[in-house]
Amino acid sequence: MDKITELELKIKEAINSLGYDVKTITLNPSNRKDLGDYQYNGAMSLAKTYHDNPLNIANKILNTLKDFPEFKKISVAAPGFINFTLSDDFLIDFANLTLKDPTSNYSLGINKTIFLDYGGPNVAKVLHVGHLRSANIGQALNNLCKAVGCKTISDIHIGDWGRPMGMVILEIETRYPDLAYFKDDYNGEDVDFNLTNELLLELYPTATAKAKEDENFMNTARQINAELQNKHKGYYALWQKIVKVSLEEVKRLYQDLNVDFDLWEGESDNFAYMDELFTYLYSKNMIVKSDDALVIEVKEETDKKEMPPLLLVKSNGAVSYEATDLAALWERTHKYNLDEIWYIVDKRQELHFTQVFRASYKSGIVNHQTKLIFNGFGTMNGQDGKPFKTRDGSVMPLSCLLDSVTKVCEDRLMESITNNRHEIARTVAVAAIKYADLLPYRTTDYNFDIEKFTDLNGKTGTYLLYSCVRMNSLLKKAKEANIKYNNIKTLSTLNERNILIALLDLKRIIKRSFENCSLNEICEFLYKITNLYNNFYAENKVLTEENITKKTSWLALTKLIFDNNKYLLNILGINIPEKM
Ligand code: ARG
Repeated sequence: MDKITELELKIKEAINSLGYDVKTITLNPSNRKDLGDYQYNGAMSLAKTYHDNPLNIANKILNTLKDFPEFKKISVAAPGFINFTLSDDFLIDFANLTLKDPTSNYSLGINKTIFLDYGGPNVAKVLHVGHLRSANIGQALNNLCKAVGCKTISDIHIGDWGRPMGMVILEIETRYPDLAYFKDDYNGEDVDFNLTNELLLELYPTATAKAKEDENFMNTARQINAELQNKHKGYYALWQKIVKVSLEEVKRLYQDLNVDFDLWEGESDNFAYMDELFTYLYSKNMIVKSDDALVIEVKEETDKKEMPPLLLVKSNGAVSYEATDLAALWERTHKYNLDEIWYIVDKRQELHFTQVFRASYKSGIVNHQTKLIFNGFGTMNGQDGKPFKTRDGSVMPLSCLLDSVTKVCEDRLMESITNNRHEIARTVAVAAIKYADLLPYRTTDYNFDIEKFTDLNGKTGTYLLYSCVRMNSLLKKAKEANIKYNNIKTLSTLNERNILIALLDLKRIIKRSFENCSLNEICEFLYKITNLYNNFYAENKVLTEENITKKTSWLALTKLIFDNNKYLLNILGINIPEKM
């Protein structure tokens, strides 16, 4: 339980002991800090229930609480507000406990097993800005789940199956018809074909353009795809090569973004369970023929909006995206014992997941003990508020976005940084991008703005990193000067109190973030606490302070906030560089 909730319970019990029946009480953070840190305004409603004067009741409450060691001061203000100021000892104890064990402020003791599906890049298509949020939000939620005590399994769920694969293979066959993959007697041997990622990225758009104009091309691609799914030797070997080349680049980029997965599975892996899945669905009488397609009805009586049936097999015989996700669920629920499965996917795919979830529960692929949760996210748009594009109007590859932000950050780094300048700029760029991406509520759209996101004085990842680097360098200087500190012993300024009071709120913020599956409040908190620390830093000269108790307390406070920020930034997937 967090400290404020503990206090609220204590106050509630004290009020109950006066004979007043209250179920819960809320301490509201006060906006008149001169009057108190928190305010309780329940005396007014008690006055109504017990036909008494609110001031009278407030004073009675004050009298029972006034000797509590948690409070320095309690006062009553008309018409019956009670203002609480926390005692220094209470704040210092909390701070030192957190300093000793930063995780005490995060762990909620929730021990669910959660499967997270995020990433979802598509082989042979460039990893573009549309995949950024899934990676950022997904990884941060994964880290958050672990921080609160859960066990997680993460899966990238690569789009490596289906018609696009047929198109790319056909385009390769058209350009290089002599490759051994396409010979009837191909026997699985290694083929000397230098497929680069650049070439791969160019093949798919060319093939889609052709398929649009030329029906024959489209039909052949479909044919190839069908043969690939039947493991045609040559196509299958070429497909494996395509996946390998594409994944190398994807892995490199994800590594830059501090994104990683336990499972690097793809839609093709789920496909292996398709026969089992269909046998099961037939046995449960789930599959209905509709024209030439196969569907599952997912309408429910309470639906207010139209709910189309889930399309399982298209009229041309191709297995759908929905079927792949059902097969994925089949695999996941058979292999693991899961409390929840989270999908961190663009919110525009909500209908798809509603259909998949309903069909899974209805057919019993997933039982009701396992919660399926769609955590959709909003779009990152360009500054014009329209989907983000490059200058020539095509989608913006993620690598270009990262490079351009890195360039801006590199130009802005201090001139004194000569070693690892580019690497540091990359770390700062990732922080700028991630922080901007995680700051809006998960489902909110936002506009990409490179100047705003890298502003050293704004609500940005760069500002946070810069402040942390400064805290760290203060601690290093103290170490060099051999100053020993381990605890906060005294609070001598209002700014110190403000920092600790803000920190008291963190556990609740972590809880709400986990419940909402959104990182926005953690981002806001980081900004707030960093600002408060910077106010303190501007006011006090820590290293030259002559009072040793003050000086060591200030260093301990600095360490507390640095450790805390580092831990929180880590959850967001952001690293702090040594210098900046
Ligand atoms: N590859 C998909 C896309 O780019 C995203 C996959 C999301 N995950 C899932 N299980 N369907 O749209």
